[in-house]
Amino acid sequence: MRSKIVAGNWKMNQTFQNADELLYQIGEGMEKDFPQDVELVICPPFVYLELATDFAQEIEFKIGAQNVSQYDGGAYTGEISAEMLSSMDLDYCIVGHSERRKYFGESAEVLTQKVNQLLEYGVQPIFCVGEQLEDREAGKHFEIIKSQLQEALFGLSQSEFANIVLAYEPVWAIGTGKTASPEQAQEIHAFIRSLVAAKYGEDQAQETSILYGGSCNAKNAKELFAQTDVDGGLIGGAALKADDFISIAKSF
Ligand code: 13P
Repeated sequence: MRSKIVAGNWKMNQTFQNADELLYQIGEGMEKDFPQDVELVICPPFVYLELATDFAQEIEFKIGAQNVSQYDGGAYTGEISAEMLSSMDLDYCIVGHSERRKYFGESAEVLTQKVNQLLEYGVQPIFCVGEQLEDREAGKHFEIIKSQLQEALFGLSQSEFANIVLAYEPVWAIGTGKTASPEQAQEIHAFIRSLVAAKYGEDQAQETSILYGGSCNAKNAKELFAQTDVDGGLIGGAALKADDFISIAKSF
């Protein structure tokens, strides 16, 4: 059975004090009727990862980073390596987010290097794909998603790919309040699963968690998560409010 995952991507938000408070509130929220079969993942900025790992000693959530260097280590000022993340016992790292592709020019080649680094050090990539609005309007969304997967991920072996979590994040839905409809999400998630099945076999496709991201909130999560091929969410804005984030996780 594939995992149900709700991951919060804090992006470049929160002071240290606010991060501390938010983690505390999330912990409190998890004390009451939290579903046993939902994996909660928090992806704070690097500088708060240690704070999050301290909380995770007491509270059952997993922790992810938002980025990793494509290099192994050494003279790369300002970078954080996969080995460093692994040495902090992190479970996940987001790779291929549209904001990194857009603002930091991350190419498919760089993304592949990042995925390889993470796999080498035992950190699971949460790999994001998603089309721009103009791609969808031109009817090219299937093609774009397919090439994003093929270019950066489908060179992996089956055993490597088994460690990947996928996230579909239509760029037009990120931070805009325009969520993909449950039908639009299901259509793409089923398409992604069919591509995984064609490349790695049906068993692997059934085991791969595919998360939806893009203006997912406490109101629309239930309908999105009810779709057959939607296995959870990658949450931005709504992950910064403990009540909303917990209520999204309880939406299965
Ligand atoms: P929003 O939930 O704020 O739209 O962000 C989604 C996202 O980019 C998560 O990675």
